[in-house]
Amino acid sequence: MKILVTGGAGFIGGNFCYYMLDNRPEYKIVCLDKLTYAGNLSTLENALKNKNFKFVKGDIADKILVDKLFADEKFDVAVNFAAESHVDRSIENPEVFLVTNILGTQVLMDACRKYGVKRYHQVSTDEVYGDLPLNRPDLLFTEETPIKTSSPYSSSKAGADLLVHAYYRTYGLPATISRCSNNYGPYHFPEKLIPLMISRALANESLPVYGDGLNVRDWLYVEDHCSAIDLIIRKGRVGEVYNVGGHNEMTNIDIVKTILNELGKPHSLITYVKDRKGHDLRYAIDPTKIHNELGWLPKTKFADGIKKTVEWYLQNKPWWQSIISGEYKNYYDKMYNSPRG
Ligand code: NAD
Ligand code: TYD
Repeated sequence: MKILVTGGAGFIGGNFCYYMLDNRPEYKIVCLDKLTYAGNLSTLENALKNKNFKFVKGDIADKILVDKLFADEKFDVAVNFAAESHVDRSIENPEVFLVTNILGTQVLMDACRKYGVKRYHQVSTDEVYGDLPLNRPDLLFTEETPIKTSSPYSSSKAGADLLVHAYYRTYGLPATISRCSNNYGPYHFPEKLIPLMISRALANESLPVYGDGLNVRDWLYVEDHCSAIDLIIRKGRVGEVYNVGGHNEMTNIDIVKTILNELGKPHSLITYVKDRKGHDLRYAIDPTKIHNELGWLPKTKFADGIKKTVEWYLQNKPWWQSIISGEYKNYYDKMYNSPRG
């Protein structure tokens, strides 16, 4: 079995490469990644030592490169993690989100059609459903919830999902889609809430909480997302969408306080800043379908997962310190230290 993993130098794709090398030692993995600001080859340092793993630097939207890769490698399965993934960046500059997330998906699926694969899997997000009200805890996202996006990021992911469904209906591409809630864990780029707060708290810097901090996200430990994707590509039904989440809703302010408590840092580091434009209020996944059909259940409780994550950031300072010292510093100053127009 040979599997293409795009975006494997990023957070979830990197964790997925390790998950598969550990749990499916009979698989060969080829990782295609453009190494954008969010991609980090050091994330794959240990994978690169494994004879079943190969890395190729390239853009999923580069037709010639993708075509040649498929002709050379003859993949059985393609899993697409590659994406521009940060909502705040999509608000500043939507264009690259449309190119990578939509056109890149089309290029990959055209190659899958031309060379044939047993499965194309699109890693999508619960953000395609928009948001839920804070005062209706009974409401959850199911696979039937209408697509209703808020940000250029989520719109680009929704566009890709619709295209995947069209390739399944029109060309019979054996495709599946997963829509997962917010992930956390090792190798998470420090522009996202949890790693940003850990890295800044460790430096005794202010922690920028958007708005009133009461927005709710449904957090899942990244390894549990990886196990769900592994199940879907082996046992999921083609043409289907599977929601992935572990019923772990928390407000942003509670997440930030939990991190401060884990690190023994004062709550006075918390600073309320201007809210994100179009900020989604609440995400919450109903994972009944993947549980009933495929028997998937998350293994890691939040209390354990956040401890493991904080410990990982303490043990792997060179990984994130090299990131926050580079181009990222300019990004942080631009986004947080200047008024957003
Ligand atoms: P990430 O930003 O950490 O990593 C994205 C990776 O894709 C990087 O390695 C980057 O170099 C690569 N990439 C970007 N553009 C590329 C291109 N044109 N060609 C090839 N490679 C390219 O993202 P992540 O958090 O790991 O998310 C992975 C996927 O999971 C995304 O599709 C995202 O929409 C989805 N997702 C993320 C979350 C989350 O909480 N992070 C939740 C649900 C779904
Ligand atoms: P993020 O990690 O960017 O994920 P997403 O927007 O895809 O859910 O943000 C998670 C939540 O944390 C979201 O409600 C925005 C909020 N947030 C802050 O309050 N401060 C920050 O500096 C960041 C990056 C996010």
